Amino acid sequence: MLKPLLVANWKMSQGRIADGAEYLKTLKQAQLPADREIVICPPFTSLHMFGDIPHGAQNMYWEESGAYTGEVSAMMLKELGCTYVIIGHSERRQHFGETDETVAKKVTAALAHGLTPIVCVRSVEEVTPALMGKPIVIAYEPVWAIGTGKAATPEHAQEVHAAIRALVGDQIRIIYGGSVTADNAASLMAQLDVNGLLIGGASLDVITFLSIIGA
Ligand code: PGA
Repeated sequence: MLKPLLVANWKMSQGRIADGAEYLKTLKQAQLPADREIVICPPFTSLHMFGDIPHGAQNMYWEESGAYTGEVSAMMLKELGCTYVIIGHSERRQHFGETDETVAKKVTAALAHGLTPIVCVRSVEEVTPALMGKPIVIAYEPVWAIGTGKAATPEHAQEVHAAIRALVGDQIRIIYGGSVTADNAASLMAQLDVNGLLIGGASLDVITFLSIIGA
């Protein structure tokens, strides 16, 4: 069985160092479930304080270094102890012009540096050939569910995850994201092909997040 993966995506919220530090203090005191992998993806500026709490970035650029003002490379993320990186989140596709092509380049660069990409797709169609056969995580996040309070039903999530599963095989974790809460997390996780969750808004409060991950 694939180990379930629960990822907190803080987005550009929870950006103050002091707030992040408080959150981490509570997280460290909690009994985290051993049978689940927990990863926090804070803004870049907070990554340095995570130490041995598993953490990832929300984005990266595919080049290693050079004249790319404002960008952050996989190598830099590795130095900050990241093990994961979210790639192609729908907000990046919508506001920052990311495409299936840029996603594919980022996936290649992340893997080359030993980072596991969490590739966000809004539909089965976005699971392109460039993603197949690679050791990645896929996050299915329907746009209508992100930040709207209208999560997918467990049945809908299972249906789409099963269609993605048919493309990527048994060894890839397919996680669900979009208005996950402490109330709907368990029923989503109970689905055969839901191997974890990508949690935005509900991950910002540490107590809520702990209850979602089952701590
Ligand atoms: P949400 O965000 O949980 O606030 O809907 C999820 C995401 O966009 O990753």
